[in-house]
Amino acid sequence: MKLAVAGKGGVGKTTLAALLAQVYADKGRDVLAVDADPSPCLAGALGFPPDMLEELCPISEMDDLIHERTGAKPGTVGGFFTLNPRVDDIPDRFSVKHRGVRLLEMGSVDIGGLGCICPESALLKTLFNHLLFRKDDVLILDMYAGVEHLGRATVDFVDALLVVAEPTRRSVGTVKQIKKLANDIGLNQMRLVGNKILNKDEEAFLRSEAPEIGLLGIMPGDSAVQEADRLGLAVYDHVPSLRKASEEIAERIVSIVKIEDNG
Ligand SMILES: Nc1ncnc2c1ncn2[C@@H]1O[C@H](COP(=O)(O)OP(=O)(O)OP(=O)(O)O)[C@@H](O)[C@H]1O
Ligand SMILES: [Mg+2]
Repeated sequence: MKLAVAGKGGVGKTTLAALLAQVYADKGRDVLAVDADPSPCLAGALGFPPDMLEELCPISEMDDLIHERTGAKPGTVGGFFTLNPRVDDIPDRFSVKHRGVRLLEMGSVDIGGLGCICPESALLKTLFNHLLFRKDDVLILDMYAGVEHLGRATVDFVDALLVVAEPTRRSVGTVKQIKKLANDIGLNQMRLVGNKILNKDEEAFLRSEAPEIGLLGIMPGDSAVQEADRLGLAVYDHVPSLRKASEEIAERIVSIVKIEDNG
């Protein structure tokens, strides 16, 4: 099962990705969580201990690896380098595992657009496509805002694109943009997850503003989320209301993916 999490900046993509990763890991599933944000913070949201956080380095910043695999130093423009470097060993070699969740930090990735034609982007694009082809039990991609970076390859492989939204017009505006972009590339399995919801009115607002996108579930607004961040704890451990909400969402995802597999 492959899930991508998108949405406007700051809506809670990383929070949801971390929660789902831990829910599935605790159910005994084999989870690979991928942080594809230029400033990675999924490890923090998962509550990785400080010594592990220090060890982590995004693939986009591994200059020697990029050089070794592509034949050119990062930052090189022009010149020769391989466009399809070897990447199959990277997910296992460079991920770190904590409480059943394997985490890979990719760093800044421009998958869909033309982006820069440089060694680092050749490595990252190849790696991203490789991740989509792998037979991981559960793959969770924490993307940065928008879906411009979701390329054609994503369409056939992602079982669900989860779009997180707060109950605000701006956030819903981004959802509609993402929906349009997703439609343009033929990605139809899009589901909405409401976050930071404080009452029934806010939930109703989300339902009425984006009726064409199925609302998969909602997560309450809870000040303990920020507290978890300050204390360096996983939201999963520190905020029971969000853990419960994400367990329900995780179950619903499994059932829709199953239905679509059968149909
Ligand atoms: N349900 C919630 N209740 C209260 N605060 C929340 C909730 N979910 C997320 N937050 C807070 O909102 C902020 C953004 O959350 P998060 O980092 O998960 O969003 P993001 O979409 O991944 O952001 P970015 O676009 O920067 O990657 C954080 O400070 C987080 O603590
Ligand atoms: Mg994030």
